[in-house]
Amino acid sequence: MNIVIMGPPGAGKGTQAEFIKNKYKIPHISTGDMFREAVKKGTPMGKEAQKYMNAGKLVPDQVTIGIVQDRLAEADCQAGFLLDGFPRTIVQAKALDEVLEKTDRKLDAAINIAVPDNILIQRMSGRVSCKECGKVYHLVFSPPAAQGKCDECSGELIQRSDDNAETAANRLQVYNEQTSPLLDYYQDQGLLKNVDGNRDLKAVGSDIEVILDEA
Ligand code: AP5
Ligand code: MG
Ligand code: ZN
Repeated sequence: MNIVIMGPPGAGKGTQAEFIKNKYKIPHISTGDMFREAVKKGTPMGKEAQKYMNAGKLVPDQVTIGIVQDRLAEADCQAGFLLDGFPRTIVQAKALDEVLEKTDRKLDAAINIAVPDNILIQRMSGRVSCKECGKVYHLVFSPPAAQGKCDECSGELIQRSDDNAETAANRLQVYNEQTSPLLDYYQDQGLLKNVDGNRDLKAVGSDIEVILDEA
């Protein structure tokens, strides 16, 4: 199963991706996570990407398309994949179509998690994640058992540097301007599946499950 999961910043893409990858046994490919990993390692690509991420802007298409293309060529993606946060522009969506066509693959669904802006701001401002294992929490909606500590590995919980109020607002604006046109792109291909993301995690997850079981 070849899936794209879309939605504005803070919509719950990463949260739902965790459950999808476990249930359907497909790799979760998050371009945001790949960039954060590169930033952490201090690679040249990471240094370049960080400038854009800190401003809430998109990393240039050329860079992003290159890393996704390489990742989709790996063996574990041949039987299916879940792309999270890619594509984010029409140029990226067309590049994805081309890559898949060349390798005789196609998308089965583009899931769009819709959430109103005021809720997105709450989700981003309260998000923390484990410095060690990456597990994501929300201080109000899904808090850890012990304050500041990961339930899984006791690692320190930290806030993402782009979740501050100013950068979060920029990310929302960039989404509305550059990424939301993709909804029409996938609607036209008959692949768009809208999910109401303004409900609890399990309700959103079971809607996605129904969609994917039919895809
Ligand atoms: P990326 O990492 O993709 O960030 P994003 O799209 O802004 O999305 P988020 O990860 O913030 O949100 P999410 O939807 O995953 O929500 P989550 O599940 O964590 O990208 C970061 C940056 O990298 C970009 O700004 C850009 O610079 C660059 N980049 C990445 N991809 C790119 C590309 N293709 N092209 C160019 N540049 C690119 O949930 C959020 C919070 O809400 C959590 O605390 C969670 O616990 C909570 N939550 C989730 N669901 C619910 C629910 N149903 N109810 C209550 N709380 C919930
Ligand atoms: Mg995410
Ligand atoms: Zn942890």
